[in-house]
Amino acid sequence: MSLFSPEEGWYHKKVSKDEKMWMVIALVLCIMLFVWMVLWHVYGRQNPSSITYRTNTVEFGKLSDAYVKQNMVGMDKGVPIVRPQPNSDVFVHAQMWRWSPVLIFEKDQSYKLHISSTDVQHGFSLQPVNMNFQVYPGYDYVLEFKPTETGEFKIICNEFCGIGHHTMIGKIVVIEKDEDLKQYGYENLKKAPDTIATQNSGKPLSEAEMVLAGEQVYTLKGCITCHKTDGTTIIGPAWNGLYGKEEKVIENGKTISIKVDDDYIKESILHPQQKITVGYEKTPMTTIPLTDEEISQVIAYIKSLK
Ligand code: CUA
Repeated sequence: MSLFSPEEGWYHKKVSKDEKMWMVIALVLCIMLFVWMVLWHVYGRQNPSSITYRTNTVEFGKLSDAYVKQNMVGMDKGVPIVRPQPNSDVFVHAQMWRWSPVLIFEKDQSYKLHISSTDVQHGFSLQPVNMNFQVYPGYDYVLEFKPTETGEFKIICNEFCGIGHHTMIGKIVVIEKDEDLKQYGYENLKKAPDTIATQNSGKPLSEAEMVLAGEQVYTLKGCITCHKTDGTTIIGPAWNGLYGKEEKVIENGKTISIKVDDDYIKESILHPQQKITVGYEKTPMTTIPLTDEEISQVIAYIKSLK
């Protein structure tokens, strides 16, 4: 029951002129906004017309790894570079904390992007054109993409995804002709993808091939996000000069000294929490599922980094 009851019969009283006027204005506004919504959907071009498929992180990870392995033509700060054929399917992999690969597109050509995350939710924000959408793990977002301008575009992650969120910046370069590659420092890209580590000829890889394969794992599996190879530290210890080094680690709460060798590296990959390097207690490593073969390749690569 309300505080003051209205007088009897109020409902049938005539509405005053002012009130009628406001009702008409509100109605007109509603209709205008409704029409606007429909027109905007058709002519506004603000919604990427995307198809979405259900996938899972393991499947998408495999697909995008295989895609990059087959199509990689170079590297940009450790992130693989792919130059896809027009009208082809292109896989863009979001993971803590990078977008992979770097893409080189040609102006006025169409590409079909498949975008997904293999860990947490990320946000795809293409700058400076300001095209945004969310990237959830478990969904393959298909985006028909046709660049109309040349230049360098950044993919910024606009969804807070952890300690390295601010470093999660990807790149799309749009060119008109091959000579344009020079201005981005890409003049030395391979003409055809390098398939050394993917050829399954059955014979064991040479030491040099192992190193190359290890470098691919380092890039493809995202080790590079936390480990640099030029002596600088970002999230984890740098890899150069690491092999054979004496390290202080914490095991079961006790600080001990160990030597970095094959067994230690293997253990660090498979059971990263077992021994934690002193100084990196706050940024523990996550488990990265690698095969024994990939682990050997990573070890060969670390050994090669002086
Ligand atoms: Cu990915 Cu923030």
